[in-house]
Amino acid sequence: MSELDPGRLLDRLDTMAELGRTASGGLTRTAYSPADITARNLIARWSTLEAGATVRLDAAANLIAEIPGTRPELAPLVMGSHLDSVADGGALDGTYGVVAAVEVAAALQRSGRPLRHPLRIVAFANEEGVVAKPFTGSLAITGRSELIDVGETGPDGITLSARLTAAGGDPAGLAGAGWAEPVAAYFELHIEQGPVLDAGGIPIGVVTAISGRRRAQVVIEGRSNHAGTTPMDLRSDAAVAAAHIVLATEAVAREGHTEVATVGTLRLRPGNANVIAGHAVLSVDIRSVDDARRDRALDELGRRIDAIAAATGTTITVTADEGSGAARCDGELMNLIADAAAGLGATSVELPSGAGHDAQHMTALGPVGMIFVPSVGGISHNPSETTAPADLVQGAEVLLAALRRADDR
Ligand code: HGY
Ligand code: MN
Ligand code: MN
Repeated sequence: MSELDPGRLLDRLDTMAELGRTASGGLTRTAYSPADITARNLIARWSTLEAGATVRLDAAANLIAEIPGTRPELAPLVMGSHLDSVADGGALDGTYGVVAAVEVAAALQRSGRPLRHPLRIVAFANEEGVVAKPFTGSLAITGRSELIDVGETGPDGITLSARLTAAGGDPAGLAGAGWAEPVAAYFELHIEQGPVLDAGGIPIGVVTAISGRRRAQVVIEGRSNHAGTTPMDLRSDAAVAAAHIVLATEAVAREGHTEVATVGTLRLRPGNANVIAGHAVLSVDIRSVDDARRDRALDELGRRIDAIAAATGTTITVTADEGSGAARCDGELMNLIADAAAGLGATSVELPSGAGHDAQHMTALGPVGMIFVPSVGGISHNPSETTAPADLVQGAEVLLAALRRADDR
């Protein structure tokens, strides 16, 4: 018999999935959007009503629910994830970890056996980075607000500052959002978003490390010209250069310079069928659990882009961000999660996370543990992202058991 309320957990995930639902059945709940704010308000209500929490918004518009422990002098135990999504993504990425955290806190409240440690639940703001660089919330909480550019404008031309203000945050107060005290432990429950657990029939993943990532914007200047009258050897075609860069990006990863590398956005101008593209902008996303390897891969790609510029007669500018560093999960928490899973009769396996998570920033405040559940077919950031209900419930039960073990340490 589960201490959790499995039916309510699954019902609430269904409720959240409607907030930003797209015609394709996916989810577009970008950070600070009305759907994101509605989702955050629901979490606030459930946390208050069922988990005995007091809730607040910080300057980054993170939702922070606080539940006292019997030993207020102890550092807090923290659970969290994010509610924002990519465009037309899945309904479990991030949201699952936040909803499950509330259900775990509600079970603790019902049990009459409160934790010794104070407990916090965080719905981190803007984890995905669709409307502004990612990790606004976890950068603010971990005291790195200097990496947040509130003047940054999203694809719709709205600044992060305006979004924060509209969402109840305070762009001028980000420096004050940093937590002054360390945490006893941070746990994040998340779908794997990759193929390992589902292919192996393993219900629980114990995350060893979280990949670091750097993003680069590549701007290509060629010369727009007539598609019918311009001989092939007289062209400076930004679309051709972009195509070579897409293949070069793939090659850098396939040749083993890093784990993964992706061109996820590509825009051509003027964008008419009978005009040679004079301008192109594309994004490159390069990741590794080894930051130095990731940086070397980015340098290798840069050299190949220089050669592409020369070969296509274009001018190409690559602007790479600082990105987010890879992080290792805490060995003791990994053992504690594996023991918690075993105690529930669930097999587990250790694996790295190719996806980025707020957890990689929370390592600045204390030990971090991540729990994965299988993604069917390894699909994520896609409307067909899904996880078996039994796996969703079991993941939350492992989170509760791990939290209790951490509380007893
Ligand atoms: O992009 C990522 O790795 C995560 O889904 N934000
Ligand atoms: Mn994601
Ligand atoms: Mn996520």
